[in-house]
Amino acid sequence: MTTIGLIGSGHIGSTVARLAVDAGYDVVLSNRRGPETLADLVEQLGPRARAATPADAAVAGDIVVVTIPLKAYRQVPAAPLRGKVVIDTNNYYPDRDDRIAELDDESTTTSELLQAHLPESRVVKAFNNIIASHLGILQRPAGDPERSVLAIAGDDDSAKQAVTEFIDAIGYDAYDVGPLSEGWRFQRDTAAYTRPYAVPGTDYPWPGQQLTAQALKEKLDAAVRYRDM
Ligand SMILES: NC(=O)c1ccc[n+]([C@@H]2O[C@H](COP(=O)([O-])OP(=O)(O)OC[C@H]3O[C@@H](n4cnc5c(N)ncnc54)[C@H](OP(=O)(O)O)[C@@H]3O)[C@@H](O)[C@H]2O)c1
Repeated sequence: MTTIGLIGSGHIGSTVARLAVDAGYDVVLSNRRGPETLADLVEQLGPRARAATPADAAVAGDIVVVTIPLKAYRQVPAAPLRGKVVIDTNNYYPDRDDRIAELDDESTTTSELLQAHLPESRVVKAFNNIIASHLGILQRPAGDPERSVLAIAGDDDSAKQAVTEFIDAIGYDAYDVGPLSEGWRFQRDTAAYTRPYAVPGTDYPWPGQQLTAQALKEKLDAAVRYRDM
């Protein structure tokens, strides 16, 4: 695993790219507007980074991170992602993403939607419940007592293992929440969503703080569905 492809290179995509480059990976960035619009980011990231189209980033990546507004998920190119590990960071914000009926009635979850769009890929939900600014500062080396944990979910154990190794390399432990159908436990507005990485009682932009596996587990156990909120 040497190359990370990014479909979406905004707040989360660029932060994952920075962490990956710092860990020694090559990154291939892409966005909606075209590779030329990513020139500044490529320059900032240095020689391990280049920009391409989403399809080319998908081809290039050993792991491909899909990190776009959820409403665009059907535009993610399926063919070049066949057989690949795909990390899904996406969250459902109806005001931004328009209404998606099967999420409103909770008959599925965001990452299961992406998995259904990419039936021959192995989707792992990750990076969705931490804000980009915290993701970019809370990384610590393996064994550091101040290391934080990130929640993951997925239906394929080997894909989750690959993502766990990537997450470890970029400075975090991974906590396996279970299959994609359990991904709702760290979706928008749940107890595990973003605030556990923020210093309590502070105002936005909240300063970041370590999240331990035990504290994450307590938040995941406390999760409730939207219909019960
Ligand atoms: N921001 C956070 O702290 C945070 C934390 C966790 C999870 N998330 C979730 O992660 C996802 C990305 O969030 P973000 O804040 O990084 O978003 P963002 O800053 O708005 O960036 C979105 C990126 O997606 C690209 N994009 C849009 N449509 C695309 C398409 N059809 N094909 C390829 N690329 C496309 C955009 O390209 P253009 O610039 O060319 O439009 C941009 O690079 C969202 O679902 C969000 O809810 C965000």
